[in-house]
Amino acid sequence: MNFYIETYGCQMNERDSEEINALLRMEGHFETNSSRNADIIIINTCSVREKPSQKALSAVGRYIKSKNQGKKIVAICGCFAKQEGERLKERFPNIDLIFGPQQIKDLPILLNQVLKERRSIIDTSDTGYVNEEKFLIDKDSVTAFVNITKGCDNFCSFCIVPYLRGREFSRPKTVILEEIKKRVENGVKEITILGQNVNSYYDKHSNTDFVDLLEDIHSIEGLERIRFTTSHPKDVSNKLIMAFSYLPKLCNHIHLPVQSGSDRILSLMNRKYSRQHYIEITKKLRDIRKNISITTDIIVGFPTETDQDFEDTLSLVEEVKFDTAFSFKYSPRPMTIAYRKLRDDVPPKTKEIRLKILQGRIEEIAQEKNRNLEGKVLDVLVEEKSEKFQGQYISRTSCNRVVNIISNEELKGKIVKVKITKALKHSLLGELWKGEHHEESRSSRNIA
Ligand code: SAH
Ligand code: SF4
Ligand code: F3S
Repeated sequence: MNFYIETYGCQMNERDSEEINALLRMEGHFETNSSRNADIIIINTCSVREKPSQKALSAVGRYIKSKNQGKKIVAICGCFAKQEGERLKERFPNIDLIFGPQQIKDLPILLNQVLKERRSIIDTSDTGYVNEEKFLIDKDSVTAFVNITKGCDNFCSFCIVPYLRGREFSRPKTVILEEIKKRVENGVKEITILGQNVNSYYDKHSNTDFVDLLEDIHSIEGLERIRFTTSHPKDVSNKLIMAFSYLPKLCNHIHLPVQSGSDRILSLMNRKYSRQHYIEITKKLRDIRKNISITTDIIVGFPTETDQDFEDTLSLVEEVKFDTAFSFKYSPRPMTIAYRKLRDDVPPKTKEIRLKILQGRIEEIAQEKNRNLEGKVLDVLVEEKSEKFQGQYISRTSCNRVVNIISNEELKGKIVKVKITKALKHSLLGELWKGEHHEESRSSRNIA
């Protein structure tokens, strides 16, 4: 059968979709890029805010409709599926399969059950992650995600993830290293280590903390670059900051969600660090790596947020000067502490205005930083040919900026030097840097 997967949400979900893809292909099914040709449609959903939840709902509605005209199997999985479970079945009686993030490795069994018994199956239980899943990816990509922890124990008061992804679990070091080695053998050059809070990784069998693990990963031959996400500021140790000084494969980037610049709000959010502590971490990081790119997540309109609290967030943005930032309006999520204990009392209009102001400032700073890169020569890892622009490659700097380069050489998987010719809104244009043969005056405008 042909299958089609639609993915919403974070990198964990993307990684889960890869796993689903590999499992289905092992079962003899074929991947298709169009839902129209698919016999099996799988929607991998997110529930972190109202918006992605709505997207999940409308995707399910859309595909259930298309199912009525044919014999398709429609399955929904991921965080929103886990959250809603039975309720989804009540809403969409025709849905064939509902499963949670913990059931991915059981998908072939669940699917066979659906096909054999011709009835809907729901499994969103907390079976945990103790059974190590098999390593299954065989794509020929240059970059790859590898999970090191699953779940989260932090219970930030706004966040639903701990309720959907379960308790934090660190995968054994040996399994992680084996997975990365295999991927590197298959041509992967850059690994992004994933976890809701990678810094709290701890494998008690081998006494390995996050930095120890980074050191082991660093020594894998053939691996060129290491990224990790997400870091929780409360767990950024001096040991981790120092690691940036002696682990050159660590990319020049850290995503460090701050959420708010107001200590009062940070405490209500249960984030367990102060504004000052956060700023100190960013200073220490920049002492070690002058040009390290620091990116963040920010929430506006958290319950009780005053104009002064918001000003504190703005002044933090001014002080830290993030390379870029994702910002969101607070959205009450079921089960969370904020939902149960605090009234969502910041008016929608105020949230809207604060978000606009914040995003405007973030964008200005980001673009100024991008413009400062014009004329600079940077190392990029070439990931793939651009689908949108013929003759262009998509590459990435160590500081996580996308650089489009024109070239007819075979560059995929190579680290090359490029001269940045132009900063666009969300990416850069560059040309291969050939040392002294470089023509300083060549215009890049026609590339855009
Ligand atoms: N584990 C990561 C990412 C969590 S979800 C972390 O600890 O940072 C990604 C981002 O979504 C969060 O950083 C937060 O900024 C935002 N977010 C989470 N719950 C939210 C909510 N209820 N309302 C608005 N934004 C939220
Ligand atoms: Fe959510 Fe906080 Fe865990 Fe991140 S650290 S997933 S924001 S509870
Ligand atoms: Fe969304 Fe689940 Fe990730 S709620 S952000 S897909 S962990």
